[in-house]
Amino acid sequence: MSIEALSGKVFLLVTGASRGIGRQIAITFGSMLEEGSRVLLLARNKDALQEVAKNIPSKVKVCTISADLNKLTNKTKFEEFLSESLKETTPNAFNRMVLIHNVGSIGNVSQVNDIWDINIWREFYDLNFFIPTVLNTVVMNTFNSKIIKKMVINITSLFGIQAVIGCGQYCSVKAAREMYFKINLKYCSQTVYRNSI
Ligand SMILES: NC(=O)c1ccc[n+]([C@@H]2O[C@H](COP(=O)([O-])OP(=O)(O)OC[C@H]3O[C@@H](n4cnc5c(N)ncnc54)[C@H](OP(=O)(O)O)[C@@H]3O)[C@@H](O)[C@H]2O)c1
Repeated sequence: MSIEALSGKVFLLVTGASRGIGRQIAITFGSMLEEGSRVLLLARNKDALQEVAKNIPSKVKVCTISADLNKLTNKTKFEEFLSESLKETTPNAFNRMVLIHNVGSIGNVSQVNDIWDINIWREFYDLNFFIPTVLNTVVMNTFNSKIIKKMVINITSLFGIQAVIGCGQYCSVKAAREMYFKINLKYCSQTVYRNSI
C-alpha cells in the first residue's frame, strides 16, 4: 500500500519509537517509504530501537539514537541528532519531512494539589511539552526549504480535552501540547499539523 503523504524521498522522525504506539508507527510508516528515504528513531532503549529498525525494509536508511530526552537542556543535542541522521545527504535531498511527536508519559497520578515539588512538575513538562516544542523548532529550521512538504503529527489524548481525576499532570500537559501545535498551524500554513490519537 502507498499513501501520498509518504511518497517520494521522505525524512521520517519518530520520538518514543522503542515501544508502544511509537514503535508501531515507525514500523508501519517506515515500511511504506520509498528508496532513498531516511528514518530517525529516538528513545532511551537502544536495543529496542535497533529491533524496530530491523523491521523497516533495508532500502530505507534508519538511524537510531538512544537518548534520555528528559536530560536535554537545549537545542544543540537535537541539532547533533539531525546531522547524524543526515550524514552523506542534506535536508534538501528530501521531498517530504514527517515528524511524529509521540513521546509521552503518564506522570504523577496523585491529586494535582498534592504535588508540592516544583521539580516533579518541571521534569514532567520537560519531556511532555518543552522537548517536543524545541525539537519541532529545530526540525523546522533544518527542513526550511518551502519546496519540502512537511507534516507534523502530535500524538495527543482524549485526556487533553477531558479532565480525569488522578491524571492532572497528563491532562494539563496534553491540552498545552495540543494548543502549541494548533498555534503552529496558524503561523506555518505550508506545514500540515495534526493532533491525533
Ligand atoms: N497507550 C494509550 O492508551 C494512549 C492513549 C492515548 C494517547 N497516548 C499517547 O501516545 C503516546 C505513546 O504512548 P504509549 O502508550 O505507546 O507509551 P509507552 O508505551 O510508554 O512508550 C513511550 C515511548 O516514549 C519513550 N520515552 C519515555 N520516556 C523517555 C525519555 N525520557 N526519553 C526518551 N524517550 C522516552 C519510551 O522509550 P524508552 O523507555 O526506550 O525511552 C517509549 O518508546 C504518548 O504521547 C501517549 O500520551 C497513549
